[in-house]
Amino acid sequence: MKYSLNINGDRYDVDVDSNMPLLWALRDELNLTGTKYGCGQGTCGACTVLIDGSARRACLTPVAAVGERPVMTVEGLGATRIGAKLKAAWAREMAPQCGYCHAGQLMSAAALLERMPEPDADAIDAAMSGNLCRCGTYDRIRRAIKRAARAA
Ligand code: FES
Ligand code: FES
Repeated sequence: MKYSLNINGDRYDVDVDSNMPLLWALRDELNLTGTKYGCGQGTCGACTVLIDGSARRACLTPVAAVGERPVMTVEGLGATRIGAKLKAAWAREMAPQCGYCHAGQLMSAAALLERMPEPDADAIDAAMSGNLCRCGTYDRIRRAIKRAARAA
């Protein structure tokens, strides 16, 4: 099936099985490899993207379910006001260790700051609870989100 996807403000045409997860289309069909494959089962958050501004698991979202809704991946995040502040804060706090989980972490943080510009600690923990980090960088992530919020 042919689908036309709106990703980071650009149109991408793909011809894929309707059940193909968006994650596969991003990485294997469109070479947008910033979004990572972790568990493939919706439990780690490595594949988090924004669909219509909400954090969604690309590994569980069939391409056919995306429709006209805008998709944002980590490749497009820096072009947004909140994304630029998050990326600067991430660098300042040296948030990543291996870095593998951090595209997903950034996308969840962006969705949080979009709906709640000044989140408290509980709101940050709740919003980020679905994004796992095997390197244990949680404290630095929390600090980076607070820093970005202060700069917003
Ligand atoms: S790869 Fe999608 S949640 Fe883990
Ligand atoms: S920084 Fe290594 S998994 Fe999170």
